[in-house]
Amino acid sequence: MALELAQQEETPLVISDMKMPGKDGLWLLEAFREQHPDTAVIMLTGYGDTEAAVDCLRRGAVDYLLKPPKLTDLIRSIERALAKRRIELARKRYQKKLERKVRDRTTELRSALKDVSTTYQNTLLALVTALDAREHETSDHSQRVVEYTTAIAHIMNIKGPELDEIGRGALLHDIGKIGVPDAVLLKPGKLTPEEWVEMRKHPDIGFSMIAPIPFLSIPSQIVLSHQERFDGRGYPRGLAREEIHIGARIFSVADTLDAMTSDRPYRKGTTFANAIEEIHRCSGTQFDPQVVKAFLDIGEGNLVKIKEDMIARKKAAAAAKKAGGNGEGSSGSGGAPPASGSGAVPGGGVAAAPDVTI
Ligand SMILES: [Fe+2]
Repeated sequence: MALELAQQEETPLVISDMKMPGKDGLWLLEAFREQHPDTAVIMLTGYGDTEAAVDCLRRGAVDYLLKPPKLTDLIRSIERALAKRRIELARKRYQKKLERKVRDRTTELRSALKDVSTTYQNTLLALVTALDAREHETSDHSQRVVEYTTAIAHIMNIKGPELDEIGRGALLHDIGKIGVPDAVLLKPGKLTPEEWVEMRKHPDIGFSMIAPIPFLSIPSQIVLSHQERFDGRGYPRGLAREEIHIGARIFSVADTLDAMTSDRPYRKGTTFANAIEEIHRCSGTQFDPQVVKAFLDIGEGNLVKIKEDMIARKKAAAAAKKAGGNGEGSSGSGGAPPASGSGAVPGGGVAAAPDVTI
């Protein structure tokens, strides 16, 4: 009956005898602790039953009184029990409020961090797009290389923050070309030995540009080593095998694929099949065989699809921008800064050797 009554209205306090026919006081105490934890319970016990009384305190009763209790003792005990309950309720309310506040602040913080990360990424994209536009006819070389790099890394079971770092390194690989004079970088003909010296400074320039930024510490390692070769014949440090950051070893394959399958003012890009064959041929010399194996696992069809999907995304983003001004179609993780031209078309022209990537 007591439990039924408590179900119907808030019950601040219960005073219960220990020994009762049927269910005893201990049973009632436990039922209240479970179903109405905010109800204070005072137990009444007979002489010689102090052990059971102490047990009651252990199980959550606020107090116990010997029967028959003195009225003053009973009143004092009730007052103490109710005061304790008030404090406990206030503490619970405060804790709940605090938890809600922490939850709200965490959500705000997460959203702010996401904004910062998106801003970083968009800033990097804008920078790289400008850089690509300076050197190439199309402005998406770096972004295509990111897509190929992450696809290979994915097959190699690289994921989470490590995959993001490698993607960022691939995106920024040629950032140091900002320090290469136009006369060298844009020279249509062959470079002189002196000009090559200038050109080959770009990994070091890129590294010193971004290494001091904590957020770009790992990507800076990829920037520094992106022209190294597996056999040690690359530059700037002539590193070999595992001395080269895994991100740079993966990038190297991705960069070669894009360089070979993209059109240049002086030659047409080759087919994906040709590029794949050539990369396979250079496994163990220019490229890490493990990376080449993962690359071959992707398959020609999927590699072509990566490029075609990128072109389709860019077209859709450009169309959305045209239709809706600064609409949402032009931003977001998949969205890229506007292209200055169409994507490169693989063709059957003169194939570039893998060594042509600079
Ligand atoms: Fe480079």
